[in-house]
Amino acid sequence: TAPLTIAIDGPAAAGKGTLAKRVAERYRLPYLDTGLLYRAVGRQVTIGNADPDDPEMAGAIARKLDIAHLDEPGLRGHDAGELASRVAVHQPVREALVAFQRSFASRAEGAVLDGRDIGTVICPHARVKIFVTASPEVRARRRTDELLSHGREDIDYDRILAEVKARDERDSLRAVAPLRPAADAHLLDTSELDIDAAFRAACEVVDRVLAEPGRH
Ligand code: C5P
Repeated sequence: TAPLTIAIDGPAAAGKGTLAKRVAERYRLPYLDTGLLYRAVGRQVTIGNADPDDPEMAGAIARKLDIAHLDEPGLRGHDAGELASRVAVHQPVREALVAFQRSFASRAEGAVLDGRDIGTVICPHARVKIFVTASPEVRARRRTDELLSHGREDIDYDRILAEVKARDERDSLRAVAPLRPAADAHLLDTSELDIDAAFRAACEVVDRVLAEPGRH
């Protein structure tokens, strides 16, 4: 049988990251958070004083991305995510990151990758594809609570909701590799699910695929 590659895609703050990490642990697979790559490119653009909206400049930086750049502090924060989504619209940036993601995905032991275009572009042949969604209101509430719990006091739900919607729009309407479910993705709406219930639902999907006889 083909290695177990699991693609988990979805919009910002849908809970993909937490879910993907738990699925990777459960099936003992290496895990790649591909959003971190775009976040790191955004950070290097800032450090290099480059223009995030210039495709060629951002692309040149993406081609020079080094694994050590993924350890920059604060990359998982909200503002780094905004910048990531700006550099992620550029074709040269996306192209520069394809080889690394594909080689991670093609490990013999299998892999879990989460992002926006894993099931559609990076791993169109992944054995399992899950598209995680939740309403913008639910995602904004979760993101607001998360930021408040990290001691950010300047956070207000309405602003976060507006940002979540703007990010959805930028990610879904871009010309290259827009955010959308692959035709063969399993949709997992977590609006009414807590993380444990979402995890159980994802495992059911994986187990069902694993039980299919003789699929390659
Ligand atoms: O998933 P995360 O919030 O870390 O992603 C940050 C941004 O990076 C996203 O809003 C998206 O624009 C971009 N991204 C992408 N393709 C991926 C992963 C992330 O375009 N596979």
